[in-house]
Amino acid sequence: MNDKTTPADRTSKAVRSGQLELDMTSIEAAKKHLAEGAVTPSYGPWRDSIVKLLNDALATELVCVLRYKRHHFTAHGMSSPAIAEEFLVHANEEIGHGDLLARRIVQLGGSPDFSPDTLTRRSHAAYDEPSDLKAMVRSNLQAERVAVETYRQMIVLIADKDPTTRSLLEGILKDEEQHADELADWLED
Ligand SMILES: [Fe+2]
Ligand SMILES: [Fe+2]
Repeated sequence: MNDKTTPADRTSKAVRSGQLELDMTSIEAAKKHLAEGAVTPSYGPWRDSIVKLLNDALATELVCVLRYKRHHFTAHGMSSPAIAEEFLVHANEEIGHGDLLARRIVQLGGSPDFSPDTLTRRSHAAYDEPSDLKAMVRSNLQAERVAVETYRQMIVLIADKDPTTRSLLEGILKDEEQHADELADWLED
C-alpha cells in the first residue's frame, strides 16, 4: 500500500473496483491518536471544511432564533396570537438545531462559533424587524426556504465523507421543511 494514499483515496478505489473490502490501513490507524476521540483518519481532509459548514449553519440557526423571538414578542396583540405562538415554537426548535450543530462541531474537534459580532455576516438567513404580521410570516418563510436549500446542499456535499453529520443534517432538514410548510399555510389564510 502506497503511504501517500489517503483513507478517502483507498475507500474510493475499493468502491470503484466493486469490492466490499474494508480499508485495514485506516482501521489500524484508528487505534492510534486516542486524543482525537471519535474522529478517525477517514475524516482527515474534510474535517475543517465540514466544521466551517456546520459553523455557518450554527450562525444561521442563532439568527433565526433571534428573528423568531423578536417576531414572537412583537406579534403579541396583533390579529393572530396563534401565529405568535408558532413563532415561539419554531424559535425553540431552532435552538435545538443549534445545540445539535454545536455538539457535532465539538465532537469533530472544532470550535463552535457563537460570536455575536459576526453572527449576521456568517448567517445564510437574514435578521429583520417588520411591524406587520404578514411581513413577519413572509420573512420567516424566506429564511426557512434558505435553510432548506442550505441543508440540502450540505447533505449533497458531505455525502459519504461524514455519515454521522449527514444524518444529523437530514433530521434538521426535515424540521425546516415542516417549518416552511406551516408558514406557507399561514400566508394562504
Ligand atoms: Fe433550524
Ligand atoms: Fe426552521
